[in-house]
Amino acid sequence: MKKRSTFGSRFGTIVVVGGSVVGLGNIWRFPYIAGENGGAAFVFIYILISLMISVPIMLSEFAIGRSTKRNALRAFKKLSDGGWWHAVGYLGIATAFVILAFYCVIAGWTMEFIRESVAGSFIGSDSATIKANFDGFVASGWKPVVWAGVFVGLNTLIVMAGVEKGIERYNKILMPLMFLILLGLAINSVTLSGFADGVRFLWNPDFSKISLNVIMEALGQSFFSMSLGMGTMITYGSYINRRENMFRLAGTVAVSDVVVAILAGLAIFPAVFSFGISPTSGPELVFLTLPNIFAQMAGGYFISILFFLLLFSAAITSSVSLMEVVVAYACEEFRISRRMAAMMASATVAVLATLCAVSQMPDSALTVGGLNLFDFFNNVSSDYMLPIGAFMIVIFAGWKMSRQVFANELTNGATVGMRIYTVLRPMIRYVIPLVIAMLFLSGLGLLTL
Ligand code: TRP
Repeated sequence: MKKRSTFGSRFGTIVVVGGSVVGLGNIWRFPYIAGENGGAAFVFIYILISLMISVPIMLSEFAIGRSTKRNALRAFKKLSDGGWWHAVGYLGIATAFVILAFYCVIAGWTMEFIRESVAGSFIGSDSATIKANFDGFVASGWKPVVWAGVFVGLNTLIVMAGVEKGIERYNKILMPLMFLILLGLAINSVTLSGFADGVRFLWNPDFSKISLNVIMEALGQSFFSMSLGMGTMITYGSYINRRENMFRLAGTVAVSDVVVAILAGLAIFPAVFSFGISPTSGPELVFLTLPNIFAQMAGGYFISILFFLLLFSAAITSSVSLMEVVVAYACEEFRISRRMAAMMASATVAVLATLCAVSQMPDSALTVGGLNLFDFFNNVSSDYMLPIGAFMIVIFAGWKMSRQVFANELTNGATVGMRIYTVLRPMIRYVIPLVIAMLFLSGLGLLTL
């Protein structure tokens, strides 16, 4: 059998895992979900969940992946000697397709916005024009479909090139750049008239706004943003070097994820209040607010090109991690080439993404339970599929996987993080599964808290 890939260096590992984690989830999804759920109270819960619940889940996924060095499905089989646990792997693969379907549509939007930035369409436009322009783009149907197709194609090329040569190489360049530009935009917010309102919206929690629904949304958003609950971190974990300290890795990545989301919030909410856009605008929030800033800002022309280029890059480093789950599985289990596996996966994603894009046209009949297919996929993945997946993963790590293998894997054979491990173990066995289960059941109305 061919030698299995391993990330080349510590920096490489951080940027690849970071590249998966930081994506549209932080810059596109986080601001609008926070906006719809009341702002600061949501942000508070979100940070709490990311550090207390998501980090241990990420460590569980790493341990499952690195100890087996197998794809997300085979890893479960290997650690559980048969049984039905690998069903969690199948759920993960299904989830990858559901997420990719709408993710590639938004990633396609970023490409349209790169084109419009280059054409200078935002310069000097007012917010009504920017909104009309955006609505026209989505309503055209074919434009978003074409861009989604182009995006899926690029994705395929990177995944085909393989883990070190494709994924790791691109991430090393793009991730640091992304961070810098976002920082710049957040700093620029200070000059906007809505700065104080924006900061208040993000930072002054009104705790009476916390409801079960807000907590559930924060949980789903955190899993989405940290790429958890479907085997991405199992798959990437299988490429992590044996000597890597996974506590440090997960900690670094989680903090970066939260920081990038907050920076995105700081870049966006002051603009929301300056240009009279509703914080509850939904998926188009970022695409409506930022062009207004670019329209007015000195150097807005270049900064908008750069920003959408980076948003696109953040998207592609995440979407390849979703695709990699499917491709690693397909080429290892069916003994087909990586190339072939990538092409089959992409063809499927292209069809699903087309349906999602078309479902966003006004009056489209592609709806499920009153939501268009895009919204349905977007909601069902974070509200149900990821929490269920994450729940199964911690149960597996805490109760099914051999205790020794798990401990050894995380502590690198009792050499690192022994103290953290002692706290982590009961969290993974008891606290986290209980919290997820209780939230989930009460969200379904099966339990009243
Ligand atoms: N975390 C990525 C983002 O924030 C998206 C993503 C990549 C993802 N892999 C995932 C989401 C696995 C859920 C599960 O954009």
